[in-house]
Amino acid sequence: MRISLVLMALFGVVHFSNDFQVNAAKRPLRIAGNFEEIETCKNVKVFLQVKNVTYRREKNGITLVDALLPTSKNLKSLSKIEARVTDCADGVSYNTCQYVNTYRFTSGLCRLLTSDSMAWSGVVKAISPPVRCPVLAANYVMTNGSLNMAAVEQFAGPLFPKLLGRTVLAEVRGYDENRELFACILLKISFLRVRN
Ligand SMILES: *[C@@H]1O[C@H](CO)[C@@H](O)[C@H](O)[C@H]1NC(C)=O
Ligand SMILES: *[C@@H]1O[C@H](CO)[C@@H](O)[C@H](O)[C@H]1NC(C)=O
Repeated sequence: MRISLVLMALFGVVHFSNDFQVNAAKRPLRIAGNFEEIETCKNVKVFLQVKNVTYRREKNGITLVDALLPTSKNLKSLSKIEARVTDCADGVSYNTCQYVNTYRFTSGLCRLLTSDSMAWSGVVKAISPPVRCPVLAANYVMTNGSLNMAAVEQFAGPLFPKLLGRTVLAEVRGYDENRELFACILLKISFLRVRN
C-alpha cells in the first residue's frame, strides 16, 4: 500500500498535474477542439473570404461550422503555409495568452491540404465542391466542418491532455505559386471535454 502511494505521488509529479492520469483508468479522455471564431484577416488583400459563418454546438459538445468560402482566383499551387499560434490558458481573459510559434510548411502542401489524416481534414472534407489541386475559383460552401481530433491527438502525443481547457489562436496564411498571399484566416479554437 505504501509503495503504491509513493508511486502514485511520483507519477503525479513526473506526469502532468491535471487529472488525466487518474481518469485514464476509468475512461479515455475525450477532448473536442471547438471553432469559436473563423474569419478573414483584416487589412490584407486575399482571394479567399470566409463569410456567413454559423456555429452549431451538438449535444455531445462538438461544434460544427457552416460557412461560405468564395474564392476569386485560381490557385495553381501553394508555395507556403504559415501558422502563427498563440495559446491561452484561460479563454476569457487574454492576459493569459502567450505566443507559441510560427509553423511553416513549404513542401507537399497540396497533399497535406487534402490529406485525410491532418487536423484540418474535417474542415477540408466538409467543403463542396470538393477541394482539389489546383484549387479553382468558385463559391465553396462548408457544411458541418469540424476539427479532426484523432489527428490532433496523434500530433500532440503525450501533451494532448494539456490541451484541455485551453484556447488556441491561430493566424494561418497561404501563399500562391508566385509566393503572394492568397488566403489569411484567423481561428480561435477552444479545447473542451466531451461526453462519450
Ligand atoms: C450571407 O449573409 C448576407 C448578409 O450578411 C445575406 O444577405 C446572405 O443572404 C447570406 N447568404 C447565405 C447563403 O446565407
Ligand atoms: C450536418 O449536421 C446535422 C446535424 O447537426 C445533420 O442533420 C446534417 O445531415 C449534416 N449535414 C451534412 C451535409 O452532413
